[in-house]
Amino acid sequence: MKYLIPLACLATSILAAPTPAGTYEWTPTLAGYMDVVFRYIQEAKASGTAPTCDLSNAVLPVAPIALPTPGSNLTLEHVAVGRGVQNYTCANDTATPAAVGAVARFYNASCVASNYPDLLTLLPNLALQYPLPSSADAPLEPSGLTLSTHHFFSNTTTPVFAFDAPTSPELGTVIAQKINQTNAPVNAIAGVNGTGNGAVPWLYLTSRSDTVGDIKAVYRVATAGGNPPATCSGQPAAFSVQYSALYWFYK
Ligand SMILES: *[C@@H]1O[C@H](CO)[C@@H](O)[C@H](O)[C@H]1NC(C)=O
Ligand SMILES: *[C@@H]1O[C@H](CO)[C@@H](O)[C@H](O)[C@H]1NC(C)=O
Ligand SMILES: *[C@@H]1O[C@H](CO)[C@@H](O)[C@H](O)[C@H]1NC(C)=O
Ligand SMILES: *[C@@H]1O[C@H](CO)[C@@H](O)[C@H](O)[C@H]1NC(C)=O
Ligand SMILES: *[C@@H]1O[C@H](CO)[C@@H](O)[C@H](O)[C@H]1NC(C)=O
Ligand SMILES: *[C@@H]1O[C@H](CO)[C@@H](O)[C@H](O)[C@H]1NC(C)=O
Ligand SMILES: *[C@@H]1O[C@H](CO)[C@@H](O)[C@H](O)[C@H]1NC(C)=O
Repeated sequence: MKYLIPLACLATSILAAPTPAGTYEWTPTLAGYMDVVFRYIQEAKASGTAPTCDLSNAVLPVAPIALPTPGSNLTLEHVAVGRGVQNYTCANDTATPAAVGAVARFYNASCVASNYPDLLTLLPNLALQYPLPSSADAPLEPSGLTLSTHHFFSNTTTPVFAFDAPTSPELGTVIAQKINQTNAPVNAIAGVNGTGNGAVPWLYLTSRSDTVGDIKAVYRVATAGGNPPATCSGQPAAFSVQYSALYWFYK
């Protein structure tokens, strides 16, 4: 069964670019997401007012064992949904996969975070089920969110977040370090299409001194997929696992 996505009618003020309607395979994940979208469409029609995009309304999701909270002197600057891969290496069949980095594109979900918190936390679950757009700068389908950031590693322990998308404001390049991590909730989506080894941990990262710009802290939350198998048995020397997550940037 194919499912028509009329996301453009949600509110073009929320989704930066109007999304062309597309057809997608029906899945429970997509159905759950669309239920929430349709509820918001009804509420928007009933209220008749355009929602504003005020990040002071947004509330960072909390894991079962909570990460340290953002410092009270920090302000939320950007919320993105990331979609990409976590990379691992395997030394031999009896080793444990070693995390060696990630590469992902991030899409601007700030206005969804401001207005639709329950839709926001479904975004990674939905995004995980679809490949990235083949065109590098194209919006993320089926949500229609606009590219904001590129995520990669400068070495195996140094995550980088570059706000270098064509429409991105001058938020610089965050050179980060991991401060803390906590397990994803047990009901997190384990991988693409009902398979996979679980969701990567939620993280609290801070900016290193070589960061360009004012971002001071980054949280990775609401993860979906990305975990490697428990052991290297039968694995190649290097492999990637599909994942998605929300990233919250504070300055
Ligand atoms: C991680 O954060 C938790 C909760 O704030 C704290 O109890 C724990 O000590 C932190 N761990 C590290 C390694 O900082
Ligand atoms: C925020 O406060 C913490 C301690 O309360 C301090 O270590 C940090 O430098 C402050 N950050 C900024 C951006 O002022
Ligand atoms: C397998 O790789 C691990 C990690 O590099 C290493 O500690 C271990 O000695 C290796 N085992 C064998 C049998 O080579
Ligand atoms: C991760 O693996 C992908 C291939 O899946 C590769 O293109 C990318 O360069 C790798 N990045 C890192 C940081 O290892
Ligand atoms: C990785 O990069 C960080 C930041 O540039 C640096 O401090 C660290 O020494 C590097 N680690 C390795 C193993 O090269
Ligand atoms: C995210 O979208 C909002 C609303 O369109 C915009 O004001 C903001 O500059 C965008 N942020 C980034 C990092 O692209
Ligand atoms: C998802 O799983 C179903 C049932 O196992 C299979 O028919 C379908 O082809 C899979 N889709 C993808 C994109 O892997």
